[in-house]
Amino acid sequence: MGAIPIVWSSAQLATTGGLQTIGRRPGNTSMSYRHSAFLALVALVCCVLVATGSFAEKAHTMRKEAFGVTPQGSPVELYTFTNAHGLEVRAINYGGIIVSLRVPDKPGQLDDVVLGFDGLQGYLDNKPYFGAIIGRYGNRIAGAQFKLDGVSHTLAANNGPNTLHGGNIGFNKIIWKAEPFDNERGVGLILRHTSPDGDEGYPGNLNVEVTYTLTDQNELIFDYKATTDKATPINLTQHAYFNLAGEGHGDVLGHLLMLNADRFTPVDKTLIPLGELRSVKNTPLDFTKPTAIGARINQNDEQLMLGHGYDHNFVINRTGNGPELAARVREPETGRVVEVYTTEPGVQFYSGNFLDGIAGKNGHIYKQRFGFCLETQHFPDSPNQPGFPSTILRPGETYRSRTMYRFSVEK
Ligand code: BGC
Repeated sequence: MGAIPIVWSSAQLATTGGLQTIGRRPGNTSMSYRHSAFLALVALVCCVLVATGSFAEKAHTMRKEAFGVTPQGSPVELYTFTNAHGLEVRAINYGGIIVSLRVPDKPGQLDDVVLGFDGLQGYLDNKPYFGAIIGRYGNRIAGAQFKLDGVSHTLAANNGPNTLHGGNIGFNKIIWKAEPFDNERGVGLILRHTSPDGDEGYPGNLNVEVTYTLTDQNELIFDYKATTDKATPINLTQHAYFNLAGEGHGDVLGHLLMLNADRFTPVDKTLIPLGELRSVKNTPLDFTKPTAIGARINQNDEQLMLGHGYDHNFVINRTGNGPELAARVREPETGRVVEVYTTEPGVQFYSGNFLDGIAGKNGHIYKQRFGFCLETQHFPDSPNQPGFPSTILRPGETYRSRTMYRFSVEK
């Protein structure tokens, strides 16, 4: 697995060229010998440089190893993959959880920028949903019920009166079938799962495929695809918690956030949308210009009080149906930047308000606001909100959604 380093082919070409010259130009033997000796030397130097990794363009890598066994006896696999610049993703087939994501800072120092746990045990509980695939329905559905085509469906009430992130055993708690790949687009994993009819109260057998692709442009792309045999709501997302200074390196209040959203969906006291698309103008939810996450988070604002900080769905300013920039975040000290592009209409900006001193990786304690999430999605509670874009997938249709995190540094 892995592309052949480009420099190998130039070194091989140089060697071949030199040898051919010897045989073809007998009239100029000494020149030819000198020329070929020079080329052979160049080739040798190239080979040494390649062997020491001095100027070789690095190949992708993909490694699979064991990550423990669930209480039900299922082995969990860890996949580690890197791109040509050394960006490294580590993901497990349990919940499709991204357990670490190492990206460079200004001087090129790699650090892990997502919150998580050291081993499987932490992820079996994983109350904050660190790094997991969320489904069948990301965020909340009011009263844990909805009506579809005249039939009422009851879901698990796992968040006060509401259902949250797919119910008791959502897509964050199942073992996915994982297939690694390495092709011209990048390196990554295809994760597949069939959720049976009635799973957590949702109708229809749902076939789901989620592809994680790490490209050489330092993008991590999530492609979601699903089909069903009965009409059902669907809203898939990824629940990575970022701290671009490195996980465990304090709170994220100094990160500068830009949200490409002129409107948001205000919520009630159980964080269910009121149905309104409200302007962010003159509110602390206006991130249309880069602003520190912490600059206004403690203001006396009704929506901030209800969310215990930011925990709101923002309506992305769309210009078409393709991937649109939803958010850009920059951490001033390290210069790390993440941009989020998506085909979804919304993004949940969650400022880690419910992190309460949970023991994370490397002995780090994650306190309130030590991480933030940008969960691309259809709007919360859409199955009960006729004014919101529909989340209903019907037999014969294919659900498709794409989100991309693009990493860079700003000097
Ligand atoms: C929700 C928060 C919730 C968090 C972890 C976010 O998507 O909006 O309210 O606390 O996930 O469950």
